[in-house]
Amino acid sequence: MPQNKNILITGGAGFIGSHVVRLFIKKYPHYQVINLDSLTYAGNLENLRDVEKSSNYRFIKGSILDVELLKSIFSENEIQGVIHLAAESHVDRSIHNPDEFAMTNIIGTIRLLKAAQTEWHGSMEGKMFYHISTDEVYGSIADGYFTEQTSIDPRSPYSASKASSDHFVQSFYNSYGLASMISRCSNNYGPYQFPEKMIPLMINNMVTNKSLPVYGKGENIRDWLYVEDHAQAIDDIFHKGKSGEVYNIGGNNEWRNIDLIKMLCHIVDKKLGREEGTSVKLITYVTDRPGHDLRYAIDASKVISETGWRPQTDFSLGLEKTVDWYLNNQEWLTHVTSGEYLNYYTKMYDNR
Ligand code: NAD
Ligand code: DAU
Repeated sequence: MPQNKNILITGGAGFIGSHVVRLFIKKYPHYQVINLDSLTYAGNLENLRDVEKSSNYRFIKGSILDVELLKSIFSENEIQGVIHLAAESHVDRSIHNPDEFAMTNIIGTIRLLKAAQTEWHGSMEGKMFYHISTDEVYGSIADGYFTEQTSIDPRSPYSASKASSDHFVQSFYNSYGLASMISRCSNNYGPYQFPEKMIPLMINNMVTNKSLPVYGKGENIRDWLYVEDHAQAIDDIFHKGKSGEVYNIGGNNEWRNIDLIKMLCHIVDKKLGREEGTSVKLITYVTDRPGHDLRYAIDASKVISETGWRPQTDFSLGLEKTVDWYLNNQEWLTHVTSGEYLNYYTKMYDNR
C-alpha cells in the first residue's frame, strides 16, 4: 500500500525545482505536492504549465522569509516532508549583491527550519527536512574529488550563504533532533534553466548572434549533470537517505568551459543549418569572475552505493536535447528575459 504524504517543495518554480515538482506529481499520485515559491526573476510558472492542473498539486506564491505563512502552511497541511530548493542561485549576482543571498539563503532557511521544527517536535516519525545544496560549498579543488568528508571552504558570497545554510540544517539536527539531510550537487543543465547561467546564456547568444562572454581564459572546470538526473537523485535520497547524512551528487563529467562552449557552437551551427565555425567566431574573452573557482569535481560514490542512483543521460545527447529545447522555446526565453532581468543583464555586460 503506498503511503500518503504531504510534501512542501520550496523554489519549485525555478529551474531544478520545476523538474523535481514534475517528477513527484507524476510518480507519486498519492502524494500532495505543495510548491512554495515567491516568483523572483528566476521563478516562472510557465516552467510547470504541463502539470499545473494535476489534482495532487498546489502552488502557493509566497516567501520562505514569511514566518506567518510558513506557520499556516505547516499547520493546515500536515506537512511530512520538505524539499528545500528556494534560493538565490547565481554566483555573479551574489558578487554584486551579497545581502540578498544572506537574506534568502541563510535567514530563509532558518525560518523554514524553525517552522518544521515547531510543527514536528512532538515526533520526527515519517518526517524529513531535505536541504538542496551545492558542491560550491567545498571551494575549488586542483586534483582529486570532493567527498562528503571534504572541509567546507566557500569562496563566493553565494557559496558562503549556501555553506551557512548547510551548517544551520546540521545544527537543527544536532541541537533539536530535526530529521534532516543535505545533498550537494554539481552544475546542472537542461530545459528551463534561466539564461544567466553559462549553457543557456551561450545558446541564446549564438542564436541572436551576440558575443559569447568567456570569463578569463575559459580554463575553469565544472562537472555537468542533466537536470532530470539530479531530480531523480533527489527522489532517491528523499526516499532512501538517512537522517543526519550528507550526499554528494555529480555526473563524473568534467569539462573546461572553453571546450564545452566550442561543443555547443558546433551543435547550434548544425541545428540552425549554419556554416560550421559561425558561432565560434562569437567567442569573446572577458574579464574573469572575481575569485573564480578553478575546478569542481564530485565523488558521488556514497549516493550510488546507498540508493542505487546513477546518472542516466549521456552528455552529448543531453546537450542536444537542451539545445533543441531552447531553439523550440523562444517564447519562454522572451518572457523570462523581459523586465527586471533584462535591465540587470544589460547593465552588467555594458561594462565589459
Ligand atoms: P533558480 O534560481 O532557478 O530557482 C530558485 C527558485 O527559488 C526560484 O523559483 C525563485 O523564485 C525561488 N525563490 C527565491 N527566493 C525565494 C523565497 N524567498 N521564497 C520562496 N521562493 C524563493 O535555482 P536552481 O538553479 O533551480 O537551484 C535550486 C537549488 O539548487 C538552489 O538551492 C541551488 O543552490 C541548488 N543547486 C543548484 C545547482 C545548479 O546547477 N543550478 C547545482 C547544485 C545546487
Ligand atoms: O556547481 C553548482 C553550481 O553551479 C550551483 O550551485 C549554482 O547555483 C549554479 O549557478 C552553478 O554555478 P556556476 O558559477 O558554476 O555556474 P555558471 O553557469 O554561472 O558558470 C559556469 C562556468 O562558466 C563558470 O566557470 C563561469 C563560466 N561563465 C559563466 C557565465 C555566466 C562564463 O565563462 N561566462 C558566462 O557568461
